[in-house]
Amino acid sequence: MYGEWPVTEQQHAPEPGLENLLSEERRFPPPPDLAAHANATSDLYAWANADRPAFWAEQARTLLTWSTPFSTGLDWSNPPFATWFADGELNAAYNAVDRHVEAGLGDRVAIHFEGEPGDTRTLTYADLQREVSRAANALTALGVGTGDRVAVYLPMIPEAVITMLACARIGAPHSVVFGGFSAEALYSRILDAEAKVVVTADGGYRRGAPAALKPAVDEALAKGPTTVGHVLVVRRTGQDTAWTQGRDVWWHDVVDTASDQHTPVPVNAEHPLFILYTSGTTGKPKGILHTTGGYLTQAAFTHLNVFDLKPETDVYWCTADVGWITGHSYVAYGPLVNGATQVIYEGTPDTPDRGRWWSIIEKYKVSILYTAPTAIRSCMKWGEQWPAAHDLSSLRVLGSVGEPINPEAWIWYRSTIGGDRAPIVDTWWQTETGAIMISPLPGVTTTKPGSAQVPLPGIAADVIDDETHSVPNGSGGYLVITEPWPSMLRGIWGDPDRYVDTYWSRFKGIYFAGDGAKKDEDGDIWLLGRVDDVMNVSGHRLSTTEIESALVSHEWVAEAAVVGASDETTGQAVVAFVILRGDAAGAALPADEVAAQLRAHVAKAIGPIAKPRQILVVPELPKTRSGKIMRRLLRDVAEHRVVGDATTLADSSVMDLIAAGLAAPKA
Ligand code: PRX
Repeated sequence: MYGEWPVTEQQHAPEPGLENLLSEERRFPPPPDLAAHANATSDLYAWANADRPAFWAEQARTLLTWSTPFSTGLDWSNPPFATWFADGELNAAYNAVDRHVEAGLGDRVAIHFEGEPGDTRTLTYADLQREVSRAANALTALGVGTGDRVAVYLPMIPEAVITMLACARIGAPHSVVFGGFSAEALYSRILDAEAKVVVTADGGYRRGAPAALKPAVDEALAKGPTTVGHVLVVRRTGQDTAWTQGRDVWWHDVVDTASDQHTPVPVNAEHPLFILYTSGTTGKPKGILHTTGGYLTQAAFTHLNVFDLKPETDVYWCTADVGWITGHSYVAYGPLVNGATQVIYEGTPDTPDRGRWWSIIEKYKVSILYTAPTAIRSCMKWGEQWPAAHDLSSLRVLGSVGEPINPEAWIWYRSTIGGDRAPIVDTWWQTETGAIMISPLPGVTTTKPGSAQVPLPGIAADVIDDETHSVPNGSGGYLVITEPWPSMLRGIWGDPDRYVDTYWSRFKGIYFAGDGAKKDEDGDIWLLGRVDDVMNVSGHRLSTTEIESALVSHEWVAEAAVVGASDETTGQAVVAFVILRGDAAGAALPADEVAAQLRAHVAKAIGPIAKPRQILVVPELPKTRSGKIMRRLLRDVAEHRVVGDATTLADSSVMDLIAAGLAAPKA
């Protein structure tokens, strides 16, 4: 599984001509005015290092409101199963909403919602309290109790956040499934979590048109028996929607009419807050489990300090969808727990034109922007004229997440969007880590284009070699976390063994993140990409094995191998190599047609995000004598490089065959 290190050094080497961007002069000290008033100062590191659990306990006490204060901090007596603050009780929705209203901040805007067609909604904290209470009452009436799971399959509309908080309010873990996943993917997630209710919408707006969502829920629930009793449907687009009497209920019928009074249910700090499925190296997606107290502590701490949030004056915007962990920690929980005002935007950055994001920033005077390198690279491609047409002077902190940011995009982000003024925080973390782990602090760190740089105060990360030794500065290895942290995953839903195997067995007792990294001469960390069979496409995690399984499930396909090839915009792109069955109908079709059909098949099995950019029909796949596919060689082909050392292949002529096949004119 980890056989191909060193992997991606080549892919992530700086573009030619960029050496100057990486030189000593390209260091950006924190802006003095920001540093003078920053939430986080450099002494945080020493404080945290002196006693990490005590540091986090202090954060938990100051950042959250507990209905029963905790007396225990970290319990690491049964590694790798950690608990934090385990004898305390609290409620996540109370912390995100009610306590701000009680503190007299009910009129503060919590959410500026901007729909893709241009419709808007403003929700104050008082509005949010009423909406979340109604939804909590409605879910209870639909039979959801504390501990029951609720699947959420919604577009980026306020109801997505309201539903998550309503679940938290009654102690029902939510399992949000990204709207871009297929009915089949939704079905498997509903089954695995044994969800009692699915919350969805008739559809959402995307690229200027309504895109249906509810039909995928209907299709998922028709696949076989499930534990789902009700489907709660938000009317967003007004599209015609098939209806199953007795099962389906409209949001406006049951939520809007419910009482807006509701008492949040206090839960134990270790009560499950949510499950979020993510792709791994093998088999089906894993349900990553996060609990309440530790997760909220680190989500709030990082949101406050990494973005230097001033809740009274800042307008924060994270462009992530709630279907991903970034949307959980930095849309639903972190900002609201901190009492921030945030923007939520439903649609794509290029609708109605490529200036949409910049017009939103100008309109709401966004001061903190958190987005992904893929988006930045797309905007770069579209040209400076789009941001130049808008006043972006409100921006004061810029965040990046999801994949390594290449120095060229970093510099563009800083100068074109940030006016050479706003510091960039390149934040490294994962679904599993729950919150940001490695990042500059905007008032402290002198930033370097392309590097996430330093573990946050309270986080112990290192880069190690195969023998578990910390590598010296200037060398590369595996990124690991060496001490437990509050927002760490508590397990894989229903599969404790897989949790231990996946994260804690490569290096005994150490959390291995799956990423390669190097330390530069100053000891700063540079992420180099995954060292396992996980791809990162537009900041989204995709498993090579999952896509291979989807391809092989098609009747034409005998064998498939998938690689992530570097892509200028999306970071990596999915490239698939397939061998067709000799007798398959597809074998007689032109290669383009075969590829089109197989791409559609993958979209149906997993979702459009998993569709290969390219599918190549080949006569053979390169395998070692033990039968392992050598993806490194396929990556060479996909990236149009000279094929590397093929001497360990069982049949070394295979690469010639593949090359010849690809060179041959298409039928
Ligand atoms: O490879 C790393 C990459 O994204 C992976 C985690 O993906 P996911 O769980 O979907 O969470 C994405 C959002 C937190 C990591 O293993 N990654 C994430 N952030 C960065 C990154 N790679 C380089 N630099 C980052 N800032």
